[in-house]
Amino acid sequence: MDQVDLIWKNGEFLPWDEAKVHVLTHGLHYGTGVFEGIRAYETERGPAIFRHREHLDRLAKSAGLYYLQLPFTTEEMREATHELMRRNGQRSCYIRPLAFRGYGEMGLYANSAPVDVIIATWPWGAYLGDESAGRGIRAKVSSWRRNSPGGAIPHAKASGSYLNSILAKTEVANAGYDEAILLDERGFVCEGSGENIFVVRDGEILTPPHTASILDGINRKSVIQIARDLGYTVVERDIARAELYLAEEVFLTGTAAEMVPVREIDDHDIGGPGEITRHIQAKFMDALHGRAEEYLEWLDFVDVSAGDRNGAAGTESSDESIGRITPAA
Ligand SMILES: Cc1ncc(COP(=O)(O)O)c(C=O)c1O
Repeated sequence: MDQVDLIWKNGEFLPWDEAKVHVLTHGLHYGTGVFEGIRAYETERGPAIFRHREHLDRLAKSAGLYYLQLPFTTEEMREATHELMRRNGQRSCYIRPLAFRGYGEMGLYANSAPVDVIIATWPWGAYLGDESAGRGIRAKVSSWRRNSPGGAIPHAKASGSYLNSILAKTEVANAGYDEAILLDERGFVCEGSGENIFVVRDGEILTPPHTASILDGINRKSVIQIARDLGYTVVERDIARAELYLAEEVFLTGTAAEMVPVREIDDHDIGGPGEITRHIQAKFMDALHGRAEEYLEWLDFVDVSAGDRNGAAGTESSDESIGRITPAA
């Protein structure tokens, strides 16, 4: 990993190497954590975090779904992220807030163990490779089905859920593919291991609905709006596996991957990135980088000079903290 200076933990800015946990941390044993993946981009108007509040709202909802009481408000976490970027001297980065059940009690009903919260920021390039956005990727349908809504909560971005994604990703990566596509428990197309999926058929854009065990992707929502604003029809409906092979175009969306065309699935050639994918992708990239006036409201601008307490590079740690809410009993 490319390290930066500081990580925010429970209201304090700690040096990167000192942001540690106890080995009996509950989340380490049982996966009791919820997290977000967010990106900040440099724009002409300064650094901006894409749909920051929506991500933090989803974090709060994920926490609630797994009975984790967040000790910080969404606004406190938002401010902490701005301050962290400032102190780390970052104008663009990947942002990872994580809330997890910490050290204090073991077992499966460990309500007395605290909920710890961290925010880390680091530089992270194209998740599916530098060529993925331009050339497209090769995907394979995994033999692993997406977590069933009868056994977990696909709507929550929960740490434990990612064991499912890791099985799928490992299977297809070992077989030489770039990304896994998971089917839901009924056998319909669900999503990538870390992305939502879109399929173009007869000029219409299809994407699986919420009932297909998807994560309610923030980029999915953004791309649906952009596509509709550009005049395309977007239909949320179940997609059969064979429709992947019959598709005119397929693409994936996610914070880490951004928007990536799929050029091959299960050794069926889908073709190079298609016209519709290209059209939406260009607008989406404009939105991310603050070049689309109509989507500027999606950007949370970070004033990297404001309140710069550690100098421009923000290299020193500080024990100044951002208040922690005392959780209700
Ligand atoms: C399983 C899964 N689906 C979809 C997504 C896309 O969500 P978003 O666009 O909010 O990053 C992600 C990434 O967070 C993911 O991990």
